[in-house]
Amino acid sequence: MKNISTIKEFRKWRKNISGTIGFVPTMGALHEGHLSLVSKSNKTCEHTIVSIYINPTQFAKGEDLDTYPQMVRADLDKLSQFEADCVFLPDNSEMYPNEIITSNYNSDLFKILEGKSRPSFFKGVTTIVAKLFDIIEPTHAFFGEKDYQQFTIIKQMVSDLDIPIQIVPCPIIREENGLAMSSRNKYLTEYEFSVVATIFKALECGKNILKAGEIHADKLKREITQIINSESAFQIDYVSVSNRNTLKEIDGELEGEILVSIAVFLGKTRLIDNFTYSLSEEHI
Ligand code: PAJ
Repeated sequence: MKNISTIKEFRKWRKNISGTIGFVPTMGALHEGHLSLVSKSNKTCEHTIVSIYINPTQFAKGEDLDTYPQMVRADLDKLSQFEADCVFLPDNSEMYPNEIITSNYNSDLFKILEGKSRPSFFKGVTTIVAKLFDIIEPTHAFFGEKDYQQFTIIKQMVSDLDIPIQIVPCPIIREENGLAMSSRNKYLTEYEFSVVATIFKALECGKNILKAGEIHADKLKREITQIINSESAFQIDYVSVSNRNTLKEIDGELEGEILVSIAVFLGKTRLIDNFTYSLSEEHI
């Protein structure tokens, strides 16, 4: 597994690689969620390239850029158990030698859900992902459904800009208690970890309500909200029911493919989670 930290060296190395190339962009502090993407890339593509880079432009002032977990050595150890051909580990001077003044992509999808609470987040994400796509030149790129809006926006970006990369979604990997794995889970205290499963319980309950035939978005949101609020440690940012493809909020009767997504604060930690559901299948 080759470790490369400069664009110049990467491009030189990349010239000799052909065939299908899977790319897994990450910010490190790797857990089984990230590794499931690497594994899917191994199965799908002839080559796999992973990047580890904590992208400063997707953090707003006051967010956790300075405390975001960094453990490159442990990350490389974990990756050595996969068939990753190369790990790209640039630093800030490599990725942002100058202040970025050109925005390559913009979308109304930046303003909703996560974008409401984090207005500059998707501009930062699409900027770095577009730069990485241009450097890595993969045929496939793997994104977790844990960050469903991020996956949707990247899929839309490659379609809008005719970038010839297949965006592959990967299912959410969870802890035993149902908590969606995340590098930020390291911030949780023992107490917070003991109550955090309520988020998954609320989503499971939402899914069961749908299975039982509930078709009103308001009722579904109310039930989920009630369960989360039963634990006083949580502060809800949003509970949303939207169309899975357009991410447009649904207020009335539910139909088609839906995405149920939530963001909550537990202490200082902001956690997101979701599930998708097909009402059309249920009604056949
Ligand atoms: P990061 O949070 O490190 O996540 C890297 C990838 O791993 C993303 O595609 C994310 O959705 C996926 N992932 C994280 N936790 C997961 C889980 N529990 N199950 C499945 N997949 C999971 O997302 C980012 O980094 C950044 O925004 C990035 C795309 C690298 C741009 O900087």
